[in-house]
Amino acid sequence: MRKRPYVLASAAISLDGRLDDTSGDRLLLSSEEDFARVDQVRAGADAILVGANTIRTDNPRLLTRSGPQPVKVTLSTGGGLDPAARFFTTGTAGKLVYVPTPAVAEATARLGPVATVVDAGDPLDLHRLLADLADRGIGRLMVEGGGSVHTLFLRENVVDELHLVVAPLFVGEEDSPRFLGTGPFPRGRLMLAEVRQLGDVVLLRYLLGQAARDHRRLREAVELAERCPPSATFRVGAVITDAEDRVLSTGYSGETDPKDHAEEIALAKLGPDPRLAGATIYSSLEPCSARASRPVTCTRHILDAGIPRVVFAWREPNLFVDAEGAEQLLAAGREVVEIPELAPLVRATNRHLPGVMGTG
Ligand SMILES: NC(=O)c1ccc[n+]([C@@H]2O[C@H](COP(=O)([O-])OP(=O)(O)OC[C@H]3O[C@@H](n4cnc5c(N)ncnc54)[C@H](OP(=O)(O)O)[C@@H]3O)[C@@H](O)[C@H]2O)c1
Ligand SMILES: [Zn+2]
Repeated sequence: MRKRPYVLASAAISLDGRLDDTSGDRLLLSSEEDFARVDQVRAGADAILVGANTIRTDNPRLLTRSGPQPVKVTLSTGGGLDPAARFFTTGTAGKLVYVPTPAVAEATARLGPVATVVDAGDPLDLHRLLADLADRGIGRLMVEGGGSVHTLFLRENVVDELHLVVAPLFVGEEDSPRFLGTGPFPRGRLMLAEVRQLGDVVLLRYLLGQAARDHRRLREAVELAERCPPSATFRVGAVITDAEDRVLSTGYSGETDPKDHAEEIALAKLGPDPRLAGATIYSSLEPCSARASRPVTCTRHILDAGIPRVVFAWREPNLFVDAEGAEQLLAAGREVVEIPELAPLVRATNRHLPGVMGTG
């Protein structure tokens, strides 16, 4: 599988599943509270993508009110976009336009002064587009529509997280843009990660595929940490799964000896195992990169075991040592996934440590 960014698709819909009405003006679906939330989600993304038609009909700026400006990305069959559109003229971040190979020359002539035009294959290959974004350092991509783009991303099964905001109104027009066309879409029930009321709209946050599995398994690791005996150091839980998401081993700090770390004990229980070559280790805390208790760090144990994927919730605060487990794993070419939304639970398990409840 090619490397791609984490993809978060975001849309606001009417009760009859429409993104807009047929009038020339943009239909306001979100609430003030939700606009503030969207602004934060944008600020947390490395790039924002919208379809060429949304640029033509809504002329959005796609800026954040505060914080770093994400790169702006669009895709088009022909590059038929106005270089004076706000997408191109506002903000200092880069602008990328992905078009099929035969359209590159014309699109570059038109948009070259305001954007980077990128060849995305013939026909446009979404996986190639995403791999190119990853190569440009985009780790997190927010997809803001419109309907054809959401349909494309879901059909290609490259959405990790879906933010659907439901507004309390009907559009009721046959020709108004729908949230989605027809599938095939990812099969089965999505994982409902959150329901939040924001003024008079409701946010439904779903996780799909690997993102849902990661969230579930990491939560198990976080809950395992509750079994740790009272300790003067971190209370941590770890779960190791194989490539098919079957649990191979679990561990928690202090499980057999006060010096045990969670990842170390989970690996020790398993011993050398060919399934580790396709495994993921979930740890509530970033694996340690320096420790006083024993000579070998958990990061070293993970590297030696050959585990290619590490998922954790809480980046180790520098309470005892300078933590750089994630950096070392990345430098060794391992995939590292941080799920900070579970970090508050880990901090709560470690509230016995000085200063923990105050750290971000
Ligand atoms: N409520 C919301 O959250 C929300 C968010 C965004 C937009 N909207 C609304 O959605 C409507 C626009 O939606 P839409 O579905 O018409 O348009 P869209 O998804 O914004 O853009 C579609 C365009 O993207 C390009 N494209 C899509 N798939 C492609 C592919 N496989 N290869 C190459 N290019 C591709 C094409 O551009 P070319 O035509 O240049 O070839 C296509 O016409 C607007 O009314 C807007 O207000 C609502
Ligand atoms: Zn450790």
